[in-house]
Amino acid sequence: MKHISMLVNARDVIARIRPEIYGHFAEHLGRCIYGGIFVGENSPIPNVKGIRKDVIDAFRHIQVPTIRWPGGCFAEEYHWQDGVGPLENRKKMVNINWGAVVEDNSFGTHEYMALCELIGSRPYINGNVGSGTVQEMAEWVEYMTAVGTPLAEQRKANGQAEPWKVPFLGVGNENWGCGGEMTAETYAAEFRRYAAFCREHNGNHLCRIACGPSSADFGWMETVMKAISKGWGGYPLAGGIDLHYYTMPIHPKMDSATQFTDAEHYATMDSAFYCDELLTRHTGIMDRYDPENKVGLIIGEWGCWHEVEPGTNPGFLYQQNAMRDALVAAIHLNIFNRHAKRVMMANLAQTVNVLQAILLTDGDQLVKTPTYYVFDLYKAHQNGAAVYCYTDDEKAAEGYKAPMISSSCSVKDGVMTLTLANCSLTEEAAIDCGVHHFAATEASARILTGDVRAFNDFDHPEDVVIRPFDVTLTGGRLTLTLPPCSVAEVTLR
Ligand code: AHR
Repeated sequence: MKHISMLVNARDVIARIRPEIYGHFAEHLGRCIYGGIFVGENSPIPNVKGIRKDVIDAFRHIQVPTIRWPGGCFAEEYHWQDGVGPLENRKKMVNINWGAVVEDNSFGTHEYMALCELIGSRPYINGNVGSGTVQEMAEWVEYMTAVGTPLAEQRKANGQAEPWKVPFLGVGNENWGCGGEMTAETYAAEFRRYAAFCREHNGNHLCRIACGPSSADFGWMETVMKAISKGWGGYPLAGGIDLHYYTMPIHPKMDSATQFTDAEHYATMDSAFYCDELLTRHTGIMDRYDPENKVGLIIGEWGCWHEVEPGTNPGFLYQQNAMRDALVAAIHLNIFNRHAKRVMMANLAQTVNVLQAILLTDGDQLVKTPTYYVFDLYKAHQNGAAVYCYTDDEKAAEGYKAPMISSSCSVKDGVMTLTLANCSLTEEAAIDCGVHHFAATEASARILTGDVRAFNDFDHPEDVVIRPFDVTLTGGRLTLTLPPCSVAEVTLR
């Protein structure tokens, strides 16, 4: 057992934790949209407007604040007009990035907006820069948000008289790669044109999001930030910039989601904790071009990318999800909370049946993954004030960089929420935490723990679930013993 000192200070506020930090990402990829989220109104699987009821309930429970759609690389081949209007007239296309399957466009703008409404989440539409045009993206914004224009009339004829609110617009995806193989200079110039023509109709405040770098491409961040942080009127042209960072510890060789060595576990923890350094360095660049903090950092794709499950289509990116993935999620969310001053949104890749999914489906069956339960444990942070939280820097294993404990803390409406992960495979952590400037009289806790390779599947859907957990609060000191490989939420009132 390791003894770990902690300290939280409710007076030392970092920033408000925007709910969108707990955002998700759903692409037309494999069985994410079709089968996973959308089954169509005529399906025997219970649904509302074609959207699975079990998925709606699960998303609502963890308070999904936003879902980025329709991609990913798919967004860069997507033409929105193909996905509106009568189903029988919708154009089919080949989803060239993901398994070359036929996409029938039965899930389009109206179906996506129905999903957002049903789960109470705010739309994040990602437009096509690579193979689209400025006019096409500008018209999509007009179609969704305008009143009294020809495109607004088309929307009305398609069943939606009221304009929608579209708070977030992604201007391209990975334009350094699948989104057009552009240089940072080329993309920056493109972004300025798109930003100018994608207008705010009818009082809709549009946060235009620029394509950010892949991982540690600091040169991309520098060039794009320089170009987007000041428009002609001196104001930033973008409200956000979208960094992508996947946890791939043994890149370029993938590992299995459920069969890995202890060394691979610790390498994965190192890779997850590296996100902290990435955010610090990218924030440093952003601070130089945007000292007033008007452009938010978005981590629009994050999570574990493992080998696909044996026997599944390699283009569908279907992987299992074990306790190790839950730790990766917990580490990232704690890092995002700690960087809440600059981080305005993050989107885990990808909701259902793809990469680090929160839900897996098979026909009418649905399983919640360990990662889903981490979002359940962390949901109280949404809209809270992130506050200072210190933890001893004990290493999880010799020879690795990852600390044993990851943590973050927030305060909202007189309630303090502390989330913790113990990344060690062998050691318990006896935590002694001083709680400063917060007069708590009660403490309760919940925990997710199990073997690092444990997962839920259709035969064993509840092997890894949240359980109650004992903690002690005496005179401003919180004590608890975190088992190895665990994620916990502690609530103080
Ligand atoms: O999430 C899968 C893919 O990963 C996305 O389509 C792309 O943006 C990224 O490379």
